[in-house]
Amino acid sequence: MTEAPAILTLTAAVTGYGKKQVLFGVNLAAKAGKITAVIGPNGAGKSTVLKVAHGLLPLWSGTATYDGAPLNGSTPADRVRRGITFCPQGNRVFGELTVRENLDLGGSHLPAKEVAARVAAVLEVFPQLPPRLKQVAGTLSGGEQQMVSIARALVSKPKLLMLDEPSLGLSPNILKDVFEKIVEVNRIQGMTILIVEQKVRKVLTIADHVYSLKLGKVAFSGPPAELISNTDVLRRLFL
Ligand SMILES: Nc1ncnc2c1ncn2[C@@H]1O[C@H](COP(=O)(O)OP(=O)(O)OP(=O)(O)O)[C@@H](O)[C@H]1O
Ligand SMILES: [Mg+2]
Repeated sequence: MTEAPAILTLTAAVTGYGKKQVLFGVNLAAKAGKITAVIGPNGAGKSTVLKVAHGLLPLWSGTATYDGAPLNGSTPADRVRRGITFCPQGNRVFGELTVRENLDLGGSHLPAKEVAARVAAVLEVFPQLPPRLKQVAGTLSGGEQQMVSIARALVSKPKLLMLDEPSLGLSPNILKDVFEKIVEVNRIQGMTILIVEQKVRKVLTIADHVYSLKLGKVAFSGPPAELISNTDVLRRLFL
């Protein structure tokens, strides 16, 4: 079996906020068609990794590449056009807009005809949403808003979907649904997923590869089975 190529790579990535350094030489790859998980304690730098990958935060040193070409300097909008989409932590929907308007925004870089076709395709994956298209998104439940947020990301037809804590605030039932959708778009559409999650046990069941960050460094990189079968290692990563 040949190894899947990396669609996104960070090499010796160093960055931070103001003068505060947060990432200290992170090496990470998201392989094409795979689910890559990033876990680790609060403040380890997980969201920062995704912000770098989406161009919301510049690297101080190191490199980021996508599809074999450097990303350094390209804006978030450029990256969306190139197939990278990011669902930020806790940032769900445009509350004043309807569900339909929220979904349309996912395709704002595409011709209108294509957007309509993309929205229709995505609605087939989320049967909860068609009855709510005219509802103002701010009045949806937290779980429904999370669905809209992921659905909106899918409308852009990303090659690489980056999700920051999609489980945040979801009840176990809805959480199960959201994880099933993530696996579905990965398996059926072959979409590459880079997911940051606090629900560690849960994300280990769907990931192909896992990175654990600690104090801005990669403390573990390997298959999830190594952590599932070794609770001591898992515990140490979170100390
Ligand atoms: N905009 C910002 N300005 C200053 N410091 C920030 C900013 N965003 C994050 N940080 C700091 O950078 C560090 C890493 O933050 P990051 O959000 O990447 O952590 P995380 O691993 O995603 O944590 P969590 O699990 O709590 O979401 C933290 O110490 C945080 O306080
Ligand atoms: Mg975070």
